[in-house]
Amino acid sequence: MQSSEIRQKFLAFFEARGHTVVPSSSLIPDDPSVLLTTAGMQQFKPYYTGDADPVKDFKSLNTVSVQKSFRTSDIDEVGDETHLTFFEMLGNFSFGGYFKEEAITYGHDFITQELGLAISYVTVFKGSDAVPKDTESENIWKSLGVADVREEGMEDVFWGPTGASGPCGPTTEIYCTNANGKDVEIWNIVFNEFLCNGSREQLLAGNAKLIPLEKKGIDTGMGLERLAMISQNKKNIFETDLFAPIVENIDIRASGRNSEKGKRIIADHARAITFLLADGVRPSNKGVGYVLRRLMRRLIIYGVQDALLFDTVIDSYKDFYEELNDENNRDEIIRVAANEYGKFGSTLGRGLNELRRIGEVDAKMAFKLYESFGLPYEMIKDFDDGKNAKNLTREAFDEEFRKHQEISRAGATAKFGGHGLYMKTGEVTIRDESEVEKVTRLHTATHLMHAALRAVLGPEVRQDGSDITVERTRFDFRFGRKVAPEELKKVEEWVNDAISRDLKVEYKEMAYEEALVEGALGFFKEKYPPRVKVYTMFDPKTGEIFSKEFCGGPHVGHTGEVGRFRIVKEESSSAGVRRIRGVVE
Ligand code: GLY
Repeated sequence: MQSSEIRQKFLAFFEARGHTVVPSSSLIPDDPSVLLTTAGMQQFKPYYTGDADPVKDFKSLNTVSVQKSFRTSDIDEVGDETHLTFFEMLGNFSFGGYFKEEAITYGHDFITQELGLAISYVTVFKGSDAVPKDTESENIWKSLGVADVREEGMEDVFWGPTGASGPCGPTTEIYCTNANGKDVEIWNIVFNEFLCNGSREQLLAGNAKLIPLEKKGIDTGMGLERLAMISQNKKNIFETDLFAPIVENIDIRASGRNSEKGKRIIADHARAITFLLADGVRPSNKGVGYVLRRLMRRLIIYGVQDALLFDTVIDSYKDFYEELNDENNRDEIIRVAANEYGKFGSTLGRGLNELRRIGEVDAKMAFKLYESFGLPYEMIKDFDDGKNAKNLTREAFDEEFRKHQEISRAGATAKFGGHGLYMKTGEVTIRDESEVEKVTRLHTATHLMHAALRAVLGPEVRQDGSDITVERTRFDFRFGRKVAPEELKKVEEWVNDAISRDLKVEYKEMAYEEALVEGALGFFKEKYPPRVKVYTMFDPKTGEIFSKEFCGGPHVGHTGEVGRFRIVKEESSSAGVRRIRGVVE
């Protein structure tokens, strides 16, 4: 069955069973604690928690969608038989409408009757300290004639939450067999019974609470690509009609890295790039813009710059996704891709010339090439059959990377933590030491202002962005109304009090999850690495903590160095977001 038919059948099946068809939401979610949309349920989070009314918005307690999704966690797996970055997710959802019996029966009937496929086996939750074993689902499956029911634990069959908190619960998964005889998970049916007050990582570490939801919900996710692979009896997702036309148009013979895996990576990335660009993301050095840039550079490394490739992707998807059925969008996608190629492609060429000139490189030199020309480790290693990198290892390269991060903390090429250091024309290179010193003081003041805003206005204040130049700091935060002049004065006083106490500024490196548990504030649009730095500003006499944030640094050693802080402007930045500019004197 063609994938376009699978999409339509899925929507029609659930529409006929009382579900309202809802269009895919953007790949960039509203939830500031999540970088990208990873699941169909994300746009429906408030309906599970009771913060929004499904009947008012959808005229039904049940919805169905085909959701554009993106999982950065699978990026290193791309190229095997089943993993992707961008994928389409079929999902049906219920917010207090139905529960296990109907959800499992719908899943069973859609796979076996609508699509005529066989279910190999299913999984159910085996139970944990906090949540009992799901014998109800096991019995439902058996009553439907599925005999092979396997038990799994929290890691595999317990969903969510996505982001900093959210709905979650045990799941049951459906497995089918592909043309290789391999069992593949195709559908995950989640029983949303709880609200978790922390992230998934915190939950798995035993550091979050499960609060029973008033109304139990259903959330399901089925990858269209995997389902098409089973339905079309293919050995891998790249042989399905969703990918075959794209793969056919990829020619990487000239790159010297012509492999099936290379083609798959390019096909995956070309789709992901197209959809990210269509949702308004542009390549940059932070957050989701950085994810996009990494994907684009990988294509460039394979020598792919072809407008034809993007055209093929657009043609394959434009009938279902309106945003691709727009000439202006098409031109813009091709223009941005070509522009990035122009920027990076020539630097890369110079880097390869340099590598050729140097001959054999060690880890230090390889890292220098990466830093100056963006040459990634793999490219240095593979170039000219590996002649120039016989003794280079990934470990040694990573070690150089780590050393460099420590050095850059000290100064000259400052990139200030999660705060943008940008001017209208792009990233600013700080010109001399006095500017580094000034921006460092403003950076510390920004952390203090963030803490002060929460102290004065309440903990609901959430950083939405920030930008520091040599003249001033600019801080955006989510807050529903104008900040009154007397409140601004209090914020200023709070910061200046913290400065006059000459707080000590220190950082500790720790696991991301540990930092979350410690309550460090972050800028959650930013995707953090597994190990992060947390900066704390505390009174050395009493130990009282004034500020604790995820941050790359640098900062002053003592807040006394900041000088006097003054707010110069407060205004609206966008709906629900306020913007404050401050200076240090
Ligand atoms: N939200 C269910 C899933 O994505 O698997």
